[in-house]
Amino acid sequence: MKSKTETFTSLMDDFQYRNDLSQVFDDFLTMSLCAFSPNPRTGKSHDEDLYMETIARYKASELRHNFPKMLGALILEMEARSLFGNDILGEYYELNLSKKKGKGQFFTPWPICQFMASCLADENTFERDEPLRIIDPSCGSGRMLLAGAKYNGTQQEYYGIDIDHTCVKMTAINLFLNGIFHGEVMCADALMPNDFQVSYVLSFLPFGIFRITEKEKSPLWHRYNSSFPLKREKPPKADIKLPSEMGDIQSSGASQLQLF
Ligand SMILES: C[S@@+](CC[C@H](N)C(=O)[O-])C[C@H]1O[C@@H](n2cnc3c(N)ncnc32)[C@H](O)[C@@H]1O
Repeated sequence: MKSKTETFTSLMDDFQYRNDLSQVFDDFLTMSLCAFSPNPRTGKSHDEDLYMETIARYKASELRHNFPKMLGALILEMEARSLFGNDILGEYYELNLSKKKGKGQFFTPWPICQFMASCLADENTFERDEPLRIIDPSCGSGRMLLAGAKYNGTQQEYYGIDIDHTCVKMTAINLFLNGIFHGEVMCADALMPNDFQVSYVLSFLPFGIFRITEKEKSPLWHRYNSSFPLKREKPPKADIKLPSEMGDIQSSGASQLQLF
């Protein structure tokens, strides 16, 4: 008998009769992040305790073996779509989970992300001495940042903020699996100075994604916070140059890809 092809979605679907899929999805993200946080001294994860606490919810279920398969399937599916938008996590979340959470979240369609990123692209990007710092302060699953990386390269620094922890985890994983190893994704209310829940630093050396629980240790928290007084004097403006027949538009507010 031909065995069924296991995809990220089909492996998630296996949980649907006995588990809350939002919880399963969030647990998958948590455990994947733990797996990307290696501690060479112990040979385990820096977040081994969090991993054990999370997998314990499934200890009586055979479905616990789905989690590593889901990570494998995710990587393969992302690889297969790397040229035309590979936000598999964001798509799954939008279609299957966000409405159940009662929030009805929708992310920006990939072609629009590409268009916006192309507006921000700097033709001298690749000759700069310093990397560009690119932020989406309401990053969702991080696809706007992924589009930014397509135009500006993975050597720049990419930052995301979102109020929703599940979104923050999706962005950290999406960036990392797309080869972005310089940046940080913070869970906070981007409209509130000082706010901070938790943050994930993407790093090349040491290699991995590292969770930060104290705001003072978060480079993004310091940098974003220090931009608040400036914003009060002069509201943030992301001037996006459109072709002349469309005129110039100025945009402000949180949901933008910005340089900062
Ligand atoms: C429409 S989605 C856009 C996501 C992403 N920028 C994109 O283009 O796909 C809006 C996101 O903003 C987040 N959000 C809403 N209010 C926020 C706030 N005050 N601070 C940070 N994030 C916020 C939501 O959780 C959601 O993920």
